Amino acid sequence: MSNYHIKHLEEYYQVYRKSVREPENFWEEVAEEHFMWQKKWDNVLSWDFNKPEVKWFEGAELNITENCIDRHLATRGEKTAILFEPNDPKEPAEHITYKQLHERVNKFANVLKSQGITKGDRVCIYLPMIPELAISILACARIGAIHSVVFAGFSATALSTRINDSDCKMVITSDGSYRGAKTIDLKGIVDEALESCPGIDTVLVAKRIHSDIQMKAGRDKWLQPLLDEASSACDIEVMKAEDPLFILYTSGSTGKPKGMVHTTAGYMVYTAYTFKNVFQYRENDVYWCTADIGWITGHSYIVYGPLANGATSVMFEGVPSYPDFGRFWEIIEKHKVNQFYTAPTAIRALAKQGTEVIEKHDLSSIKVLGSVGEPINEEAWHWYNDNIGKKQSPIVDTWWQTETGGIMITPIPFVTPTKPTYATLPFIGIQPALMDEEGNELKANQVDGRLCIKFPWPAMARTIWGNHQRYKDTYFSAYENKYFTGDGALRDEVGYYRITGRVDDVIIVSGHNLGTAPIEDAVNEHPAVAESAIVGFPHDVKGNALYGYVILKDVGESRDQDNVRKEINQIITEHIGPIAKLDKIQFTSGLPKTRSGKIMRRILRKIACKETDNLGDTSTLLNPEVVKDIMDNVL
Ligand code: WT7
Repeated sequence: MSNYHIKHLEEYYQVYRKSVREPENFWEEVAEEHFMWQKKWDNVLSWDFNKPEVKWFEGAELNITENCIDRHLATRGEKTAILFEPNDPKEPAEHITYKQLHERVNKFANVLKSQGITKGDRVCIYLPMIPELAISILACARIGAIHSVVFAGFSATALSTRINDSDCKMVITSDGSYRGAKTIDLKGIVDEALESCPGIDTVLVAKRIHSDIQMKAGRDKWLQPLLDEASSACDIEVMKAEDPLFILYTSGSTGKPKGMVHTTAGYMVYTAYTFKNVFQYRENDVYWCTADIGWITGHSYIVYGPLANGATSVMFEGVPSYPDFGRFWEIIEKHKVNQFYTAPTAIRALAKQGTEVIEKHDLSSIKVLGSVGEPINEEAWHWYNDNIGKKQSPIVDTWWQTETGGIMITPIPFVTPTKPTYATLPFIGIQPALMDEEGNELKANQVDGRLCIKFPWPAMARTIWGNHQRYKDTYFSAYENKYFTGDGALRDEVGYYRITGRVDDVIIVSGHNLGTAPIEDAVNEHPAVAESAIVGFPHDVKGNALYGYVILKDVGESRDQDNVRKEINQIITEHIGPIAKLDKIQFTSGLPKTRSGKIMRRILRKIACKETDNLGDTSTLLNPEVVKDIMDNVL
């Protein structure tokens, strides 16, 4: 079908218009021609944003692994599916062909079954970026178990919260992980987490660093011997279109993390279709996304989207700085990477290293560059374009979210003229709307407002695990009949979108989505802390960093303030993970509050950003005097 691969701007507009005018026909055609179905759908779409309820391809039956693996065996059996590049450049890369992937997924799926996992069970995966991570995800999908991957940088507390929230039965982990020159004791973190997870029967442990770990009898099992015994044949479990495929947690501005639930058919169709077009993937290209599979970017654009297209997807275990800051460029040269997808925070960190380390490497294989996770600033955009793309490779600045499942606003390379800092145009089938604060849609160009989506798309999350009301309240209540993204955006004179950032209490630090409330909760655990408020401030590498305002109890008591700062960050590391540590902690006697007792974060944000010329009206505050005090002592 011609419109699977968009080739020029006119075609984009043509296909886009069709996708908006006849969304059902459009997505039905994509689904018909490019996937394997055990049974076709009875109904393409039914939806109601008030309930909210969205169903795509209802009545259809399929298994996503049949589409990601089995389907390719006849024509691509010997092609590399996953190209694993280890942390240590001296360790050889591993080329896992589609045929081998098929075998390894089947064996793993049989191990899951032998351990009592059946369709609908939740399995928590807490693994570093090693092949077992992708394989265990696919093994779950093959037997209809719902995977819940927890990024292996999260702490024991964060892990146990997620395990318990979705009642996982099993954890899949490894003895440890490599991260540059360091090793991390993953199994130790799991052991600590499981002290408060009564629902876990089994822990499967992959060997990676060969460390001497404790195995709890009856609960912990080494993976390899089980795999060795397992059969390499495993029939697919036939799934319904709307059966949950996975849960992935994302932070909210308040409360505990939200387990976003993604379902099977729509997610598959949309991630495959976006992958093909946004990266202009051609047969035999080597594609590399540097994200961790613990985030949605890795789920959709390392595992499912690429494999559904029979692509070769690079999976990198290490970090950009090990053994030196040339590692990314070395890998691009070594594997002749054609599409390279990374985050602005990585680009900024690498730009600091100068260009000498780049010039040593041949980057001529690069055709398309991608950016994701936060707005890419103009300087980083140009650096990326000049030094990595050599002004020859379009940059696709892809805006999307854990909740959206796939890329939503993006250029199509070689099709959409790019513009620095602009994510440009809505992807096929996506209907954005900018809203003003009164809830009116801004129809003209050259406006800015709050970004909503007016019509369902196949990969949208269907609910929050165990809390549908929260799903409704968070995404469908701010504006009638619209999905609210939480982001602000502006639209220029030709209809290009520029994402301006979060308009809620979520802060994006190094591309990681962090809610202020859970961090404040952690800070308040410190016995000396009475109250705290966290805001973001600009940081040249991380994009945003965290600034904490902290009121201590018993101010009369003398304390080593630096010590308290350290302890606070220690608690944050334990509760959430090191990514949520505060860069600055200011001790203060009070926090600006409204008469109803709400902390005025707007003022605190401006002070932390050193934008104090225009603080707005502070006279309605309960305690206007603290503002001056805070300003006088700002860090
Ligand atoms: C938030 C979602 C989607 C994968 C990674 C993040 C911000 C994401 C962009 C971009 C400007 C972006 C938004 C969004 N964001 N991509 N290209 N330009 N902002 O997923 O953790 O769910 O975070 O990341 O603020 O709402 P996530």
